[in-house]
Amino acid sequence: MVKPVLECFGVVKHYRQGPQTIEVLTGVDLQLFAGEHIAIVGSSGSGKSTLLNVLGGLDKPDKGRVDLLAQPFSSCSDNQRGRIRNQSLGFVYQFHHLLPEFSAVENVAMPLLIAGVKRSQALLSAEQMLTKVGLLQRVSHKPSELSGGERQRVAIARAIVNQPACVLMDEPTGNLDEKNAESIQALMKSLSREVSTSFVVVTHDNKLAATMDKTYHLSEGGLHLKGGEPDGL
Ligand SMILES: Nc1ncnc2c1ncn2[C@@H]1O[C@H](COP(=O)(O)OP(=O)(O)OP(=O)(O)O)[C@@H](O)[C@H]1O
Ligand SMILES: [Mg+2]
Repeated sequence: MVKPVLECFGVVKHYRQGPQTIEVLTGVDLQLFAGEHIAIVGSSGSGKSTLLNVLGGLDKPDKGRVDLLAQPFSSCSDNQRGRIRNQSLGFVYQFHHLLPEFSAVENVAMPLLIAGVKRSQALLSAEQMLTKVGLLQRVSHKPSELSGGERQRVAIARAIVNQPACVLMDEPTGNLDEKNAESIQALMKSLSREVSTSFVVVTHDNKLAATMDKTYHLSEGGLHLKGGEPDGL
């Protein structure tokens, strides 16, 4: 039987704010299979980033569990979780978080260098990845010398370069103008066909969600698979 890449069962998460408890996730179940690309939509404050942080091991659920590659993940020690996260997950955020003093190719090579890949090989793989995201002509540009859309392309290349099982993206077009958002939508569509890495993409961008295999709606603390109807959010 094919095992899911990333799976969560009955995930509950609340925050305490003084005497008040904010119930954010009240029982989330999700199965993500190899090569599957899903979008998660939902209103602001519905808990999308909270869910992504729990799925990515950056935060622990209060109840329930997350398994990564059929192994317990959320119950690991912080050190183990950090190690597994570096090997098997990639992250892309609304703000690119690229290192300003390094070039595009050096930024993309970083996860490979951290994993112990030889510098020459890491730079070669990074350049190939930048070619895949359409930035061969920008390899030596620093982040400040790139457009917003180009920076997000570099961030996506960096998240995928070491072929993690899954990349988690939180609003990858959230900080972009329409033109740059469209270039990322097109890139995501082509990457979805080309790479075997699974994607979980949290977004308010309906066009971006439409490039994924499935869309889930997060509301009232739970995930609901959306049908083919246009997203009214
Ligand atoms: N560290 C925290 N402490 C207390 N409350 C928090 C914390 N983080 C998030 N919350 C609350 O949890 C709820 C869900 O937040 P979350 O950031 O997951 O929403 P979201 O769906 O990602 O929203 P957006 O679309 O605006 O990014 C919100 O009501 C938020 O105020
Ligand atoms: Mg959010």
